[in-house]
Amino acid sequence: MVRQHVNPLSLFYRQPRPLPPLVELFDDPALPLHLDIGCARGRFLLALAPQEPQRNHLGLEIRRPLVELAEADRIAAGLGNLRFLFRNANVSLDDWLRSLPEGRLALVTVQFPDPWFKKKHHKRRVLQPGLLAALATALAPGRELFVQSDVPAVIEPMVALIEASGCFTRPPADARPWRADNPLPLPTERERHVLAQGLPVYRVLFRRNTAPVPAVADLEAAARAADNPGDGADPAAAAVSPTPSPTP
Ligand SMILES: C[S@@+](CC[C@H](N)C(=O)[O-])C[C@H]1O[C@@H](n2cnc3c(N)ncnc32)[C@H](O)[C@@H]1O
Repeated sequence: MVRQHVNPLSLFYRQPRPLPPLVELFDDPALPLHLDIGCARGRFLLALAPQEPQRNHLGLEIRRPLVELAEADRIAAGLGNLRFLFRNANVSLDDWLRSLPEGRLALVTVQFPDPWFKKKHHKRRVLQPGLLAALATALAPGRELFVQSDVPAVIEPMVALIEASGCFTRPPADARPWRADNPLPLPTERERHVLAQGLPVYRVLFRRNTAPVPAVADLEAAARAADNPGDGADPAAAAVSPTPSPTP
C-alpha cells in the first residue's frame, strides 16, 4: 500500500540524492525541459509526453512506490522524452538546476501540492523559499512557472511568495486573481477529481522576468508574512528587494 503522505523533513527524505545529468535521463537531452514537481503516480506526464515530443518531461515525486509504477509504465510505453525520479524536491534539486545549460529549463509545474493544513506543518509544503530561489535562478527570462490548486489556503501563500520574489510576472491578458483556464493541454489526476466534483481550481501562470533572485533569507521573511496575513503585515510590504544571488 502506498502511504498518502510522507514527511519531507524526516531524516530519510532529507538525505541528498543527486539527480543524473540530462544525458543520462533523455534520448535527446538538448530538448527544452518541463519539470513537474510532485507528479504522484505520473499519469499526467505519461499522457503529456507523447503529445509534447518537442520537450523532455521530468517528474519528481517523494513517494518511491509511485515513481516505480510510473517508471514501469514509461518504459513499457517506450517514452524517451520522459523520466520519473524518486526525489525530495527540496533536497538535491538546487545543484542539479545550477548544472543545466542556460535556458534549458522551459517550464516548471507545481500542481495540487499537498496542503499540510496545520500551521506547524507548513514547513512541509513543497514550495519553500529555497526551492523558489533555485527555480527562479534556473528559469531564464520568458520561461514559465505554473501553479494550481483547489485549496485557497495553499495557493494564496504560494502566489504571495512568488510575487514577493519580484522574479515573476503574469501575462497581462490573464484574469486576476486566477486564470480562467489551464494553459496545459491535459489535466492532472487531482485536477480531474476536483473538476468532476464541480469544484473550483485556482491557477496562475508566471513568466520569469529579468529581476535578480533575492537572497533566500529575504524570501523566508516574505514567506512568513504570506503565512501570517492576519498579523498586520502587508503582503505587498513583504516584497523583497532584489539582491543578486551569488554566481554559481
Ligand atoms: C496532492 S498530490 C498531487 C499530484 C499531482 N501533481 C496531481 O495534480 O494529480 C501532491 C504530490 O506531491 C508529492 N510531494 C509532496 N512533497 C514533495 C516533495 N518535497 N518532493 C517531491 N514530491 C513531493 C506528494 O507525494 C504527492 O504525490
